[in-house]
Amino acid sequence: MSDVPEITPEAVDAAVADALAAVAAAADTAALKQARAAHQGEGSPLATLNAQMRHVAKEKKAEAGKLVGGARGRVNQAFTAREEELKAIEDAEKLEAERLDITAIASRTRSGARHPVVLMQEAIADLFVGMGWEITEGPELEHEWFNFDSLNLDEDHPARQEQDTFYVDPANRHLVLRTQTSPVQMRTMLEREVPIYVLSPGKVARTDEFDATHLPVFTQAEGLVVDKGITMAHLKGTLDHIAKQLFGAEAKTRLRTNHFPFTEPSAEFDLWHPTFKGGARWIEWGGCGMVNPNVLRAAGIDPEVYSGFAFGIGIERALMFRSDVQDMRDMAEGDVRFSEQFGMVV
Ligand code: DAH
Repeated sequence: MSDVPEITPEAVDAAVADALAAVAAAADTAALKQARAAHQGEGSPLATLNAQMRHVAKEKKAEAGKLVGGARGRVNQAFTAREEELKAIEDAEKLEAERLDITAIASRTRSGARHPVVLMQEAIADLFVGMGWEITEGPELEHEWFNFDSLNLDEDHPARQEQDTFYVDPANRHLVLRTQTSPVQMRTMLEREVPIYVLSPGKVARTDEFDATHLPVFTQAEGLVVDKGITMAHLKGTLDHIAKQLFGAEAKTRLRTNHFPFTEPSAEFDLWHPTFKGGARWIEWGGCGMVNPNVLRAAGIDPEVYSGFAFGIGIERALMFRSDVQDMRDMAEGDVRFSEQFGMVV
């Protein structure tokens, strides 16, 4: 066993010195673990010296044992101490990296809220539900036939011009972004049995300017009643009732003669209130009339037996009057400072 080192103080010191140098060189616990295996583990110089103990003569065993044992103890201590040191540094780094400031103001999840226009739409819908009417809806992407033809607007009616209507490609599908909620009248009459008492709120689109009094996309609510013995007095009474419910007991409406192809007679209706900004005055609110017999016929309803009234009101306009909104663009631009005024909590 000539290649096996003898247990001499020099050999032991050399092994210890190498081990301590490795301890000092290890920059982190992983490196230290490797160094420990190399200097303390099986096959390491110290382990090999230790294994030599069994060849040492009996009378020298105590001395050699002390030498090797002491060396192993010192090396072990150095590794353990360094390990604690490195572990403390690494723990501190980890804590720092994962630091959570529990006193910081949390980023709250915003609960969100419905838009003032939607709230207005729902308030109006609720009034009609309260009178026993039903709420119906129609598609925003509508067939030209429902939006125009079925409502008695023939092909050369000015409203069908491209400058008013968003036509949707391909043209041969005859789809438009509905320009009014009136097509829901026809859909309702085709789908339901008379008597009909429905309100259809929803979005409509026109190629209008985006300015203080116009939005290219806005909201209407369409009312339709078809029953026996319906007269214009029912229409007027309904509009007055809604005006008073929304704007107070002093509010009232008036009808001004007008023309809509789907009603006969037709009227525009105005709203009056003594405390409107700028003084008591009439403000235009929507269109209405008695359902044109041609429209009833197109829906398979006998105009000799049934009659009806219809109206369309602007929801944004209602919100303007009720909450004194000066510029309609505020309703479309999504600035929460606007919505907050209507109770939206952000
Ligand atoms: N659809 C019309 C518009 O958008 C408003 C309207 C007028 C609706 C008369 C009606 C009506 O139901 O009878 O200008």
